Amino acid sequence: MSKPILIGITGGTGSGKSTVAQEIYKGLPEEQICIIEQDSYYKDQSHLSFEERVKTNYDHPDAFDTELLLSHLKQLSDGKSIDKPIYDFGIHNRVKETIKVEPKDIIILEGILILAEPEIRKMLDIKIFVDTDADVRIVRRIQRDIKERKRTLDSVIDQYISIVRPMHLQFVEPTKRYADIIIPEGGYNKVAIDIMIAKVKEIAASKQNKN
Ligand code: ADP
Ligand code: C5P
Ligand code: MG
Repeated sequence: MSKPILIGITGGTGSGKSTVAQEIYKGLPEEQICIIEQDSYYKDQSHLSFEERVKTNYDHPDAFDTELLLSHLKQLSDGKSIDKPIYDFGIHNRVKETIKVEPKDIIILEGILILAEPEIRKMLDIKIFVDTDADVRIVRRIQRDIKERKRTLDSVIDQYISIVRPMHLQFVEPTKRYADIIIPEGGYNKVAIDIMIAKVKEIAASKQNKN
């Protein structure tokens, strides 16, 4: 198998990164593409109490086990499978189980801080920044975190004002300059997603011909 193509999708929280990644994934046959979420690589926090884990800054580059993420990306690049950690937002920690991910021709890596890490940036063949206004992002985050991440309205707002917003301005927003492509509004931008799927299909077809 030739080296896979690595596509990075970044943007602020609630911008629609995970949705864009899923939409591209759904546009290709399962045997050609996989998704790696940077969220899966939050550091193991088992040594901390629940209260300490709640207070952790999850929007700083140091919150991630980037060493493990890099080694997994290298393994996939070398045609080896990985045991991807599974993250549970409800307990603010990874669970014991992992999920096996087989190497594929196309790897999508998505997360808030993937372009903030020079080592990861170097590995990416296509870099996408999903650009959505902050007011829309916070509204989406409130709805999603209450529905899917076991949060209360007050906790989402407190965390956003004290941590998420300042970290976004310091670490996420400046990485837009590294993007090859900027997708406005995120997951339901059908034109942008259709164009991406067509491009990724073209890359996948040329790889199949080489293999
Ligand atoms: P991210 O991974 O960047 O935080 P998600 O993909 O989880 O963002 O999207 C956050 C929420 O917004 C989800 O509930 C998702 O369904 C919704 N969403 C994503 N893209 C759009 C869009 N273009 N319009 C409206 N809602 C969207
Ligand atoms: O999908 P999204 O980009 O929103 O995921 C990243 C966000 O998840 C970060 O902004 C971080 O604040 C949040 N997070 C959280 N609790 C955790 C881990 C991450 O609220 N335990
Ligand atoms: Mg996400």
